[in-house]
Amino acid sequence: MQLGLSNSKAIVTGGSRGIGHAITNTLIQEGVSVATCARGKSALDEALAQWQEQGATVTGQSVDVSDPDAYRTWFESAVEQLGGLDVFVSNVTSMNEYQGEARWKQAFEADLLQHVRATELALPHLKKSTSGSIVYIASIASIMSANMPTETEYGAMKAALISYASQLAHTLGKDNIRVNIVSPGPIYHQNGFWQGIEKHKPDLFKRAQAVSVFNRLGTSQEVANAAVFLASPAASNITGANLRVDGGAIKSVNF
Ligand SMILES: NC(=O)c1ccc[n+]([C@@H]2O[C@H](COP(=O)([O-])OP(=O)(O)OC[C@H]3O[C@@H](n4cnc5c(N)ncnc54)[C@H](OP(=O)(O)O)[C@@H]3O)[C@@H](O)[C@H]2O)c1
Repeated sequence: MQLGLSNSKAIVTGGSRGIGHAITNTLIQEGVSVATCARGKSALDEALAQWQEQGATVTGQSVDVSDPDAYRTWFESAVEQLGGLDVFVSNVTSMNEYQGEARWKQAFEADLLQHVRATELALPHLKKSTSGSIVYIASIASIMSANMPTETEYGAMKAALISYASQLAHTLGKDNIRVNIVSPGPIYHQNGFWQGIEKHKPDLFKRAQAVSVFNRLGTSQEVANAAVFLASPAASNITGANLRVDGGAIKSVNF
């Protein structure tokens, strides 16, 4: 199957590690020019250097997506450098270190509002593309109410993100822009959340493995495969989909 992404232009947030890194890397392998960001400069620079050594057209900058002005400035310069935008993958979430109401406000910023702000920035450019598409990385925490160590505000914001994306899919059809969601189950990667849990809370780690019918956590590449497919012209008749990459964790019938 040809994904048809060659020579496309993409922005992926959070490309320095984990799922965002795997998505960026997979897009690069498909011949896409990519701009990415993360807060930590050293991990980002290391990833960029590796891709650039392979001859990839990739740029990146240290930016905090919860800072609206800094995010807007970077986003607009990234589109300019790319020379347009065909694909936007809004991937970032941030660890929430607050408590009480402040925790909810932080979750709202990190898991909903920054996606909305970036979408507003992306749309004028995606409208000029012949194959504009957006992919949001949500989570099965949006629909799980038991068995997982989900934080209530995280799941609630991911549910809101899915609702927002589904509505966008309808309104943007007239502009030929597709909008899809990937909802991962627990995903294991280097320096990721679950690596810490494996070390410090082994019982919880076993519970996370057990939600999958394969009794294991997923990989970032498995999520990237789904995201890049949905982003690509190969998925030209798919919009408003929420593709779970969760090892069959959700036990309801998927009509
Ligand atoms: N891992 C899982 O088990 C899992 C399961 C379901 C859904 N998801 C979803 O998948 C997505 C990616 O998860 P992940 O596990 O790959 O996350 P991660 O390991 O925490 O990586 C997140 C990436 O985003 C960057 N980032 C974080 N906060 C940022 C900010 N405020 N501004 C700019 N960049 C920021 C990080 O770099 P810096 O820290 O240096 O900024 C990093 O590159 C998230 O939306 C998450 O909710 C993950």
